[in-house]
Amino acid sequence: RTRIVVLISGSGSNLQAIIDAVQAGDIQADICAVISNRPNVLGLERAEKAGITTVTLDHKEFESRDAYDAALMNKIESFTPDLVVLAGFMRILTPSLVQKFKGKMLNIHPSLLPKYQGLNTHQRAIDAGDSVHGVSVHFVTEELDGGPVIVQAKVDILPNDTADTLAQRVHQQEHIIYPLVVKWFSEQRLTMEAHYAVLDNKELPSEGAQ
Ligand code: GAR
Repeated sequence: RTRIVVLISGSGSNLQAIIDAVQAGDIQADICAVISNRPNVLGLERAEKAGITTVTLDHKEFESRDAYDAALMNKIESFTPDLVVLAGFMRILTPSLVQKFKGKMLNIHPSLLPKYQGLNTHQRAIDAGDSVHGVSVHFVTEELDGGPVIVQAKVDILPNDTADTLAQRVHQQEHIIYPLVVKWFSEQRLTMEAHYAVLDNKELPSEGAQ
């Protein structure tokens, strides 16, 4: 069974969706640990409720990003994971950490990448007058929010949407596509080649492909 470590910073609703899929038997994997960079967040409670080992590694207790990421890398490795899942982990990772888990680290980002990398994606999509927004699951590379996209889900932007109402509908899609991608990875159907995500030996369309 695939060994998964999940990194969170907050409410952990994506973590919950993955826990639910594992418990339902849809994903053949074990979540070995949930690591949070923020203490006392709801996601840690969700993990504890599911009987999963939790670790708080508070970035405020470290002097530098390098020192934090070195400690984080050691902590992750102590669980010998096959897959590291970033689920609302709101920190930029150093290249050496990313390199260590190359092809084994997934992220979910609330936009249709390559649009709206970074923060406040829902408000930015509304402000730009977009009619469609969404969410992407991608492999993590050194390029921030830039690794190969695996799946995207689209969400229509409605006339009266606020960042909050839009975020709620994006979340519903997140909770569908993230467990799906984790399932594929756990079934060894999904790999990262140089610049592509590959499912069942077929390249998924990448940025620039039509
Ligand atoms: C999700 O919307 C995820 O897409 C986003 O944080 C939220 C976490 O929610 N991630 C990022 O913005 C990454 N830069 P959750 O804690 O309820 O899963």
